[in-house]
Amino acid sequence: MTLKNIDDVTRDAMDHYVFPLVSKESLKNGDAMIFESGEGVELIDVGGNRYLDMMSTNTRASSLGFANDRIAKAVYDQMMQLHYAGTFSHVADVTVRLATKIAKLSPGKLAATSFGSSGSEANENSFKFAREYHIHKGTKPFARKIISRWNAYHGATMGAIGATDYLGTRNITWPGVPGHSRVPAPTLYRTPFGMDASEVSEFCADYLEQHILHEGPELVAAFIAEPVMQGDGVQVPPDDYFKRIREVCDRYDVLFIADEVITGFGRTGKWFAMEHWGVDPDIMSTGKAMSAGYAPLSGSTVTEEIAECLPIFSHIQTYQGHPTACAASMKTIDIIESDNLLPYVAETGAYFLEQMQRLRELAIVGDIRGLGLWTCIDFTRDKATKAPFEDDTMKRIVRRMSDNGVLTCDEGKSAIEFAPAYITTREQIDQCVDVTERAIIAEMKDRNLS
Ligand SMILES: Cc1ncc(COP(=O)(O)O)c(C=O)c1O
Repeated sequence: MTLKNIDDVTRDAMDHYVFPLVSKESLKNGDAMIFESGEGVELIDVGGNRYLDMMSTNTRASSLGFANDRIAKAVYDQMMQLHYAGTFSHVADVTVRLATKIAKLSPGKLAATSFGSSGSEANENSFKFAREYHIHKGTKPFARKIISRWNAYHGATMGAIGATDYLGTRNITWPGVPGHSRVPAPTLYRTPFGMDASEVSEFCADYLEQHILHEGPELVAAFIAEPVMQGDGVQVPPDDYFKRIREVCDRYDVLFIADEVITGFGRTGKWFAMEHWGVDPDIMSTGKAMSAGYAPLSGSTVTEEIAECLPIFSHIQTYQGHPTACAASMKTIDIIESDNLLPYVAETGAYFLEQMQRLRELAIVGDIRGLGLWTCIDFTRDKATKAPFEDDTMKRIVRRMSDNGVLTCDEGKSAIEFAPAYITTREQIDQCVDVTERAIIAEMKDRNLS
């Protein structure tokens, strides 16, 4: 590896590359990180600095770590055999094999997949499936509205951003995308309207029901939710929440879309997070860990009933179901199965959460939560009121951690998130918890926070 001058590369990047969702100001303050290689769960930047990547990259996609030669070989072999086969009625055999495998792994009656290249496109597919299903079924032919949740993230394309609330990106499309509205989500640390956590499930399900009635049940096509919401950090719902949501959706013939773009393909210790609550979606959006970040791939998987109801699915993209990406995904699934990674993620995630509990004693740590290998620390400047920091505290802690060789991400108003690769060891987790603890203590000391 040739070492480069970080400043030169950063200047080139700032002049010629558009960084998404990062202000020019923070780039100038040193937020740009330019990597040259990766090995296992380590990323190496252009200056040769090594980092323990506790996020599977800051999108959580690189779920099996870097330089996995089994996936690289599968991709190479597929490229030499058939790199692309077109679309319409033409499809590569590997794409069909992947769709068939997904049908076997998916919960409930999910049976048929339309592929895309990003989580946003998966949700565009899912919304089209929902709307076209109602048109063809005929009982609610005008059902077009999509209901999502406060603080949800579903993507950046127009339909997906219509359902999105998180990070203020929705306002970029102001005055907004027609047909979208939102209801409260079951956050348990800072609950909706400050209610008791025990009331949250019932409140959210009742609210959804009233909202459907208000919108007109005959006009509502679908409700979409992330099984575990990323907004402000890993919002694991109460155990009965999705069961109640499913009942409400069924009552009004509203399809339930589970957005498993982050949670799918093992992140929570199960193939799909909805399995934790035994609730089956009608449509499931996937992406990210589906191909472990080795190629862009996503999917919208629907039940047999929905697939059969549609005489034709009016959605086409040149690279949907790209054979190379599908080969990466087939190998990713094969590795998760043959290396027994689902129980490993569940056990290692539980260990991670347990080790982090000691940080609760720190004055600015409000909550620590997670599921599988997806965890977060939620900070507060006042444990009694749970008030979030409205400043750069989390960013500063994340910066201190990266200065000490550990990469993580600040998440929204109040949290720091961890989503390490499924191959992360207990030693690496111990190192991460130590660096996190030291970074929080140093931040508290510097700013007189106690
Ligand atoms: C739950 C969820 N859905 C959809 C998306 C959009 O995926 P992509 O960025 O691949 O378009 C994301 C991205 O973070 C996500 O977290």
